[in-house]
Amino acid sequence: MAAVHKVAIFGAGGTIGKSITSALVTDKSFDVTIISRADSTSTFPNGIPVTRTDYTVPALTAALRGQDAVVSAVGVAGISKQKDMMDAAEAAGVRLFILSDFGYGPAHQHLPEFDTIGKPRQEVLSYASERAKSNPQFTWSAVAIGNPIDWALNAFPTLGFDFVNRKAIIYDSGTERFTGTTMNGIANAVVGALKHPQEVANRHLHVRSVETCQNELLAAVEEVTGEKWPVAHETTKDLLEKGRAKLAKGERGWVLDLIVAQLLEEGSGRSIVVTQDKADNGLLEMPKEDVLGMVRGILKG
Ligand SMILES: NC(=O)c1ccc[n+]([C@@H]2O[C@H](COP(=O)([O-])OP(=O)(O)OC[C@H]3O[C@@H](n4cnc5c(N)ncnc54)[C@H](OP(=O)(O)O)[C@@H]3O)[C@@H](O)[C@H]2O)c1
Repeated sequence: MAAVHKVAIFGAGGTIGKSITSALVTDKSFDVTIISRADSTSTFPNGIPVTRTDYTVPALTAALRGQDAVVSAVGVAGISKQKDMMDAAEAAGVRLFILSDFGYGPAHQHLPEFDTIGKPRQEVLSYASERAKSNPQFTWSAVAIGNPIDWALNAFPTLGFDFVNRKAIIYDSGTERFTGTTMNGIANAVVGALKHPQEVANRHLHVRSVETCQNELLAAVEEVTGEKWPVAHETTKDLLEKGRAKLAKGERGWVLDLIVAQLLEEGSGRSIVVTQDKADNGLLEMPKEDVLGMVRGILKG
């Protein structure tokens, strides 16, 4: 497949889209266009062309004409809309569509409560696969990142680290290992995928910035801050029950409780998205990262 030069991005102002857009522009290999909903209130950096459009297939086809690749970083509400985006991309002659996935990969053993949330993603994935089978000129790819770790650690003290009040929660024995990908890692993975369109075509990529556990993270946090953090000990079983009770009562917050319990449940072994030797980091030319460097980055803000 010929090299990708012209890239359109959906969801460029979102949590993950912002990092990807910044990396695409910094890399200087691509001609980047942002596509955004006509009624969107998202804001974007100056200097990048923005097409505000209705998300109908004809309007999207017009917006995507001349693009080599699409990166979709739309949020949960836009996941199913990607079928129309793909129809438009295919009609416009786009060769590679990177789906908004950024999850734990198709083999992940998630809790049953996430079946409903996961269904539209599976449908989009099947749709992408069908389109690519019927039209070899159209390819898709998706990036499994596991926990978006630096962002998630900073945003959600439930994950165990309260960077504002400098205290920690360790679940179970704190030894459950998991992989995570930083915001820079995610952005670099997407940039790398666009540079290797042939190799990434029609498959899930699996990446990781670090593999760690809560005890290691606590040691890193204490080393970087030079402080002993107060630690509360809790169990993922209690967190799971708390989340399930919220869900049963229709209260908010159950998703986070269940995500954290799912990630850290001791002995579950479900949170290593990919082992180092099988990861696509090399193919995607992702710079190496480590836990200490990541923690320093979080604390610098
Ligand atoms: N692994 C994890 O734990 C994890 C964590 C966070 C996110 N993710 C995944 O990463 C992807 C991006 O999530 P995010 O949190 O970065 O997204 P987000 O910030 O919630 O939204 C990103 C953008 O999606 C677009 N959008 C919103 N509603 C839409 C709709 N109905 N139709 C079309 N576009 C719509 C908007 O762009 P415009 O306003 O420009 O139209 C918005 O700025 C998702 O697939 C999400 O599930 C994974």
